[in-house]
Amino acid sequence: MNLIDYPRWPSLARESILNVPMDLRNIRLNIDGKVIDYNGEIDSVVITGMGGSGVVGDIINDLCWFWDCRVPIIVSKNMRLPRRLSRPLVIAISYSGNTAETIMSANEALSRGYPVIGITTGGKLSAVLGSKGVPVVLIPKASAPRYGLPALLYPVLIILERFGVTSVANELESGIAGIENALKHVDDAVNLARQLVNSIPVVWVTESRRGVGIRFKNDLNENAKYYSVVSVVPEGAHNDIAAVTTKQVGLRHVAIMGPNDYEGGLYEEVLIDVVSSFGAKPIIIRLEGKTPLETEMYGVTYLGIVTLALAGLLGVEPVSTEPIDRLKNLLSERRVFQV
Ligand code: PA5
Repeated sequence: MNLIDYPRWPSLARESILNVPMDLRNIRLNIDGKVIDYNGEIDSVVITGMGGSGVVGDIINDLCWFWDCRVPIIVSKNMRLPRRLSRPLVIAISYSGNTAETIMSANEALSRGYPVIGITTGGKLSAVLGSKGVPVVLIPKASAPRYGLPALLYPVLIILERFGVTSVANELESGIAGIENALKHVDDAVNLARQLVNSIPVVWVTESRRGVGIRFKNDLNENAKYYSVVSVVPEGAHNDIAAVTTKQVGLRHVAIMGPNDYEGGLYEEVLIDVVSSFGAKPIIIRLEGKTPLETEMYGVTYLGIVTLALAGLLGVEPVSTEPIDRLKNLLSERRVFQV
């Protein structure tokens, strides 16, 4: 099976952090008369980006359930930033550097006088930010944005450490161990993919593993060109679950559970019992890992490989995402964004 860039993930994680500027906190910029001081106190971190880049925000949000991060993480997947931010640090992530929504958000952040850090392989984001002296972490390339996930994520972990949001240094290697462990489970991943053929997967996760669920859905969409739904409990247990009584569509319930989920596992166990009592046969995926980062990285790697295996079973080419390219081109042609 062709694992594309997955075998490189440990080295992508390690290489990417070397490019985080050492002097981040000493930066002081004057942009259009506004002084932006990277040494000031922050009261939130906004992570802005789309798709395979934006999912980094969801993953950090998961981790902050376990790490007790000092300030809230705000995940922004939009061309505009949330209103009424006070003293945020804005991390703008775009693998290509050419995603208009992310460039617009970064520009808006600068115009509001917020410190911004870009993470990208280059493109317009790097050019726009670089020309203003804004720090940019240049990361190694992969076959497509989603295959570069560790290179997009690991610099954020270092940035959070430098801004005193949380202390992650001791866990970085365990995250890489999680990737390596998942790479040993390719046969299991293929078996799981077989069970998903001819179905619409309904992916159940707890709030503290929302990022793993979203990433799995996105990988199903983009690698296997497969439709799926993520239901986050407890909320999904108050609405999505009602649809388990329907018989007309081939839903395949997939419950993802970590060994140390913040909410504990009992809620999802009950949910699985209820879903089963209506005749469904949920697949249960138990994530492995001793630390929150190890478990998260195991989950996103293992489930990503499942989607590659599914693409193989369906005879689908995994890397290209033509509708997304077409949308980006048309947005640009019709000048939807001023970037
Ligand atoms: O995985 C993908 O290819 C997409 O989801 C992209 O990440 C998304 O379109 C945003 O592009 P970029 O990551 O280059 O900003």
